[in-house]
Amino acid sequence: MTKDDIKKIYTNKIKELNKHNNLYYEKSKPIISDAKFDELKNEIINLEKKYIFLKSKNSPNIVVGFTPSKMFEKHKHKVPMLSLSNAFNSEDLHNFEKKIFNYLNQNIKIEYSVEPKIDGISASLYYKKKKLIIGVSRGDGKVGEVITENLKTIKDIPQEITYPNFPEEIEIRGEVFIKKKDFIKLKDNFANPRNAASGSLRQKNPIETKKIPLNFIAYTFGYFQGNLFSFQSEFLKNLKKWGFKTNKDNKVLKSINELLNFHKNFENKRFDLEYDVDGLVYKVNDLNLQNRLGFTSNSPRWAIAHKFSADSASTKVLNIEIQVGRTGALTPVAKVEPVNIGGVVVSNATLHNEDEIKRKDIRIGDIVKIERAGDVIPHVIEVDLNKRNRNSKPFSFPEKCPSCGSNTIKEFNKITKKIDAVRRCVNDGYDCERIAVEKIKHFISKEALNIDGLGKKVVEKFWDLGLIKKPQDIFNLNYLEIKNLDGWGSLSADNLKKSIENSKKVSLQRFIYSIGIRHIGIENAKLISDNVNNVNHLIETIKKNQLNKFLLIDGIGETQIVSLKNFFSNKKNLDILIELNKILDIENQIVSKNGILKNKSFMFTGKLNGISRAEAKSLIEKNSGTTISSISKNLDYLVIGDKPTKRKIDQAKNFGIKVISQKELIKLLN
Ligand code: IVH
Repeated sequence: MTKDDIKKIYTNKIKELNKHNNLYYEKSKPIISDAKFDELKNEIINLEKKYIFLKSKNSPNIVVGFTPSKMFEKHKHKVPMLSLSNAFNSEDLHNFEKKIFNYLNQNIKIEYSVEPKIDGISASLYYKKKKLIIGVSRGDGKVGEVITENLKTIKDIPQEITYPNFPEEIEIRGEVFIKKKDFIKLKDNFANPRNAASGSLRQKNPIETKKIPLNFIAYTFGYFQGNLFSFQSEFLKNLKKWGFKTNKDNKVLKSINELLNFHKNFENKRFDLEYDVDGLVYKVNDLNLQNRLGFTSNSPRWAIAHKFSADSASTKVLNIEIQVGRTGALTPVAKVEPVNIGGVVVSNATLHNEDEIKRKDIRIGDIVKIERAGDVIPHVIEVDLNKRNRNSKPFSFPEKCPSCGSNTIKEFNKITKKIDAVRRCVNDGYDCERIAVEKIKHFISKEALNIDGLGKKVVEKFWDLGLIKKPQDIFNLNYLEIKNLDGWGSLSADNLKKSIENSKKVSLQRFIYSIGIRHIGIENAKLISDNVNNVNHLIETIKKNQLNKFLLIDGIGETQIVSLKNFFSNKKNLDILIELNKILDIENQIVSKNGILKNKSFMFTGKLNGISRAEAKSLIEKNSGTTISSISKNLDYLVIGDKPTKRKIDQAKNFGIKVISQKELIKLLN
């Protein structure tokens, strides 16, 4: 890579960071998780470390937070409001202490003030002659916004100090936050409690701020005239005397080992707290030492934030709901008290199936640990049995479909030779409401008809309004009615109409997939469409009860055939297929018919070398051949790999079928 390439990558990342900074600090509406945001920051910092020629005034190494908004008056902090560097494990902590020893050039026993790191917004309160003069946000660390009136609405912030020995001039700093229980009421407007706090604090009108129950906990000082305290812990005690709220979990610990132990215990305890905590802050307790250690460009050498792992949290199961999926599967979902897991508010967790609930004995009212990893749906890891209510009862899973009242069954899985863990509604079609809605969602999904502007939410809405009850209704919508719906208008209605029109031309493979038959995914849809070539053949095959002939297709097995037969045994499902065929322009599957293997059929037995079955199959098809999965007189070649089934070879020989090796197949293909 040239220097210019690297610079380009770097500037793009800085631009990206600016965008998210703005969304986060200015708009209080982040679109990426905190973890992703940190990742981006780290990428930039690492690039700067590697290539010293990279420089930007917007580097996260220089900028803390975001430039103050134009909405508020600005205020330069007398003492900058810096951030803390992070530690994630014992090694990071030992390194932190080692750096202190190096800096001091001496190995001493260090005591730490340990404080929960509340996940809120920091603010600085400037008091003179016992009166709150000005309250400022952190801003970019150097210059903040004057938000005095908004801060004054917070009951934890004293506007006048009555305690006799209060310093003449002092800046008290702490965290503004919102309690978990209060956040629940605001969860539709903000991504997480911290954004709720930040958003409310930065309302132009303090009356708006007052509506939201914000809290303040004090933990440090900025400018402090005539500071005579010797320890951070002593300062914290005085804060309390002066009338500020301090954290009741603050404590002093004497070694890294003690810190690690405390962290381990607190990590679980934090879920019982009334507010979100994302780690512990460790500060060198001795203020003289703090003074000697001072700051690096953006964080103190004397403090560090020891973060908690971000991807799990404890919360309460409020209810267990049963969702019915497209294929009739009954999936239990835990509705939980909203909880912030790594920057995302989680209020649903999948419980997978009936067996999983039994195995973990998850009950309504339980306190459970929920994990969220990447984009996977959050799930329950374990129940905290110590917190179980004595009157709680095991969850009883419904035996009738909660949507249509039909019987449900657990099937016997022929492959695993076990009863399925999943319970299903036997009503495989449009007669069960929930199944019908889910089938329509599948019909319009990306891999199926891919209709822009008609997402899952719109389908739900149109279903509720009675506009769509069957897939074909999509092509007969009343756009005049849609135009007048809440959140719609001429433009969006027109756009929807256009994308629905565009979706009418569809390949046979996509069409077969879009019907949403269980066990007929994209791959199997392709196999079937290659076999039938056009949709009328497919309809004929169904009408004539000849679905068994698909058994000859390599890749299609009994499971798929049973599923197809089940689905089309309901005449309504075939009717929908016929209706859609009238509306849609379903393209025939074009298979090249003039390759060297034209009219030749192949079957495999045994393991091939250096090539997968799938690849071999696709090679044959590219050359106009076909592959089938059972021996009949129609078969031309049986290709044998390692450890072939002897019976198949014997059968083939009986029919007079040519038995060839993999090498010979390659020769045939040239
Ligand atoms: S001390 C220079 N103490 O964490 C020292 N900060 O990344 C910085 N925070 O902006 C502040 N609890 O919003 C300190 N007990 C605590 C804290 C705390 C939460 C936040 C604060 C700060 C951020 C640092």
